[in-house]
Amino acid sequence: MKKINVITIDGPSASGKGALSRKVANNFNLNILDSGVLYRLFAYFYNLNTDNQEITNIIKNQINFKLEKDNLRVLNQDKDITSKLRTEDIAKTASKISSKKEVRKLLFNIQRNFYEEKGLVADGRDMGTVVFKDAKLKIFLTASAEIRAKRRYIELQNLGQEVNMPALIADIEARDLKDSSRELSPLLPADDAIIIDSSEMSLEEVFSFTENLIKKEFI
Ligand code: DC
Repeated sequence: MKKINVITIDGPSASGKGALSRKVANNFNLNILDSGVLYRLFAYFYNLNTDNQEITNIIKNQINFKLEKDNLRVLNQDKDITSKLRTEDIAKTASKISSKKEVRKLLFNIQRNFYEEKGLVADGRDMGTVVFKDAKLKIFLTASAEIRAKRRYIELQNLGQEVNMPALIADIEARDLKDSSRELSPLLPADDAIIIDSSEMSLEEVFSFTENLIKKEFI
């Protein structure tokens, strides 16, 4: 298989994939795909009763992504809808619709279109196993459910949302189970992925480990 200039970063929710991907994209000047955001966008418009084809058209034609330092902003025309996509309610709908074959199929091409020759960092659940099987470097980033719940707690608090820690741990565990036991594109490391457990690592440490891999296997 011809390998393309893509780094995939897969893993469960709140494992730190997003922060790592943004840091990698900024440091190595790569394009970025946060595929979870595409599923969240699908969920957002699905909740507004938009049909699947129309949602696909909106994502293709009307949505823009802007990487600013460590923030990936989502713009619907000119309106910033980033915080609307980061609620637990949208996360639940996204998890539900992501098990549908039609939704995964509609998003497949959109995801492939993020590829640019200068390189792409793609984060999600099935970037290394399905969407970019031909990626040069594959990382699977994980951490314990408690640590991930703590990270999500801080993220949601910073967004001004009310959060309850035990409910958050339960939600994360339920979503993990659903994401890893579904029939289509279950959350699994690719055979050729490098697994990083970040439970006891800071973002800086995970980045430095990844940076070495990139220098060794990507550039
Ligand atoms: O990473 P996230 O929490 O933003 O993802 C939201 C949901 O989208 C998650 O429950 C699983 C789904 N998802 C997926 O099925 N495949 C991907 N490549 C990315 C996300």
